[in-house]
Amino acid sequence: MTWTPSSWRNKPAKHIPEDYPDTDALAAVEQQLRGYPPLVFAGEARRLKTRLADVAAGNAFLLQGGDCAESFKEFNPDNIRDTFRVILQMAVVLTFAAAKPVVKVGRIAGQFGKPRSSPVEVIDGVELPSYRGDNINGMDFTPESRTPNPERLLQAYSQSASTLNLLRAFSQGGYANLQNVHQWMLGFVDRSPQADQYRALADQISTSLRFMEACGINAQSVPQMSQVEFYTSHEALLLGYEEAMTRVDSTSGDWYDTSAHMVWIGHRTKDLDHAHVEFCKGIKNPIGIKTGPGFEPDDLVRLIETLNPQDEAGRIVLISRFGSEGVAEGLPRMVRAVQDSGRTVVWSCDPMHGNTLKTETGYKTRPVDRILSEVRQFIDIVSAEGAYPGGVHFEMTGQNVTECIGGAQAISEHDLSSRYHTHCDPRLNGEQALELAFLIAEKLQSAAPGAAESARKAG
Ligand code: PEP
Ligand code: CO
Repeated sequence: MTWTPSSWRNKPAKHIPEDYPDTDALAAVEQQLRGYPPLVFAGEARRLKTRLADVAAGNAFLLQGGDCAESFKEFNPDNIRDTFRVILQMAVVLTFAAAKPVVKVGRIAGQFGKPRSSPVEVIDGVELPSYRGDNINGMDFTPESRTPNPERLLQAYSQSASTLNLLRAFSQGGYANLQNVHQWMLGFVDRSPQADQYRALADQISTSLRFMEACGINAQSVPQMSQVEFYTSHEALLLGYEEAMTRVDSTSGDWYDTSAHMVWIGHRTKDLDHAHVEFCKGIKNPIGIKTGPGFEPDDLVRLIETLNPQDEAGRIVLISRFGSEGVAEGLPRMVRAVQDSGRTVVWSCDPMHGNTLKTETGYKTRPVDRILSEVRQFIDIVSAEGAYPGGVHFEMTGQNVTECIGGAQAISEHDLSSRYHTHCDPRLNGEQALELAFLIAEKLQSAAPGAAESARKAG
């Protein structure tokens, strides 16, 4: 069967709503979207692929992060700026520690739809469809709000376009100047109860920047000092929308999903002969694959071969999400199988989705120490199998929310209710995210080839 942007429609599809009351209205909206401008260009997605090829080769590091689910309600420029800013701060710390370029990819400008464990929600005996993300239905627990409404797709497109526009301005317009980012980072270190732990690394970065400045390397002389490449990504879940955004690139003649630079296939929708894999097979964007419990190594290898028959470097990012208690058991077999297959992939760690728990008071949360523990184990396991631990994937926000417990601010179960704003999963707040970057940086430095050798010499 030949691939087309709509060939997924002939396959079984999970987690795509079928309860739109008016399917003609849905088709009309999708038709309208087909005529809208692309959000990203094919050439940009190709550039991201070359950057990811560098990661696959061990010469760069991937930092992917942002909201679990963007919402119409939290859409404002300050939120976008603050998330962007924390990602840049984390990237500076990681760039220095890994001594490699950090490829920055936001879960932003299109991350709306959510797979849900149950299609319905029951409150006080009343059953309604689950909330599936602002591009599908509303969070309010009323029949009107929970009914899928196709007009929401247009609003999601428009919000993605404005978000991307602002991100492009921030990336290119001077806001992302390395000196600024470094100053913000120093502000964080000063405020942190763990300041002593982070100071040494922050001071090393300051010294390096002063040295560069003395050599005449600054924002005026070198454009890379004041601009960053920033890419967007989301889960390719709602395939009607993704199909409408998929266009032929006039330069290469290939199909690209122009809704984001990179998309990923979620943990629940990666069956080989189902719709989500069928769709991703034909688009040329970099593709992420969530890799977690219940997935067999052979199936993973078959999926990689299906999505990347030519073994193009930078095409596949494997996003490991086993949880801190499952990673030691589940990940080694996966890495070994991929190594044995000889396939080129990026290994990244999502330490969020396997570490979610519910408190007695009913809040979904994630303990920061489990998140850190999973990343540390991931680095050790992937390295021990002879592969390269090339990236991390976080759900985070620049806002000062209280959704994940722990961290230097010691957010307790008791504190969760004070600023719990997420529309889906609990996110790291800005300080927790940056703190993790420092702790991962320490781990990367100690795991780097030759680090043990130099530590021995020094000590
Ligand atoms: C997500 O990344 O928001 C998500 C739902 O993850 P997973 O598919 O790994 O559960
Ligand atoms: Co999530």
